[in-house]
Amino acid sequence: MSGEIPAFYDDLMLSLAEARALLLRGAQDRHCAAHTPVVATVDAGGMPSQRVMILRECDWEARRLRFHTDSRGDKVGQLAGSNKISVLIYDEPAKLQLRLTGHGQIETDSPAIDAAWRESTLFARRCYMAENAPGGISDAPTSGLPEWIEGIKPTEDQLAPARDNFAVLYVIFDRVDWLYLANRGHRRAMFRWNDAAGAWQGQWLVP
Ligand SMILES: Cc1cc2nc3c(=O)[nH]c(=O)nc-3n(C[C@H](O)[C@H](O)[C@H](O)COP(=O)(O)O)c2cc1C
Repeated sequence: MSGEIPAFYDDLMLSLAEARALLLRGAQDRHCAAHTPVVATVDAGGMPSQRVMILRECDWEARRLRFHTDSRGDKVGQLAGSNKISVLIYDEPAKLQLRLTGHGQIETDSPAIDAAWRESTLFARRCYMAENAPGGISDAPTSGLPEWIEGIKPTEDQLAPARDNFAVLYVIFDRVDWLYLANRGHRRAMFRWNDAAGAWQGQWLVP
């Protein structure tokens, strides 16, 4: 928290632009904290359920984030019950916390999902070779993978059946709770998407 005051400090729309820049950076740069946000869903009992996920893409114009996941995992079932979702990021160098809220959408079959599958590395796709669903009980310690592929980079042919387990989670957000930490005084703003206006509307909040 150095003393320098950034241009966005007292400017709502520049603050929103800062959020956009962080999300775009997070999708590109694996060393950026925004690359591994916490994604929260709601379980069948109404309890929050969180996990770290890798941010693969941010389409700011569509207000959409893309994550990859196993179609057999708990979060997929939870989203079928309630599509409410929240994404949490704190980037220490930027001193910026973002809390995005909106709805989650699971997709498994479309040319876009096929492309996401193809563009993932062989090692990344190997996770989807797990024989049983993530979160399932195991009598012994396990990676979930068939033993013959442990420590080995799979081939396209070996991976082909695992495509059935691959899903994309889209997060479509319509609210951004934005918090910037500064020595002089923190700043907080709420941005809501106004569908009728086709624009973000911002409001300063007490941090
Ligand atoms: C650094 C890191 C990155 C992760 N990335 C993903 C990911 O991109 N997709 C995913 O489904 N799980 C990812 N996980 C695992 C999840 O945190 C979680 O354990 C798993 O998805 C099961 O969650 P669920 O039971 O809520 O479905 C990651 C975990 C860590 C620690």
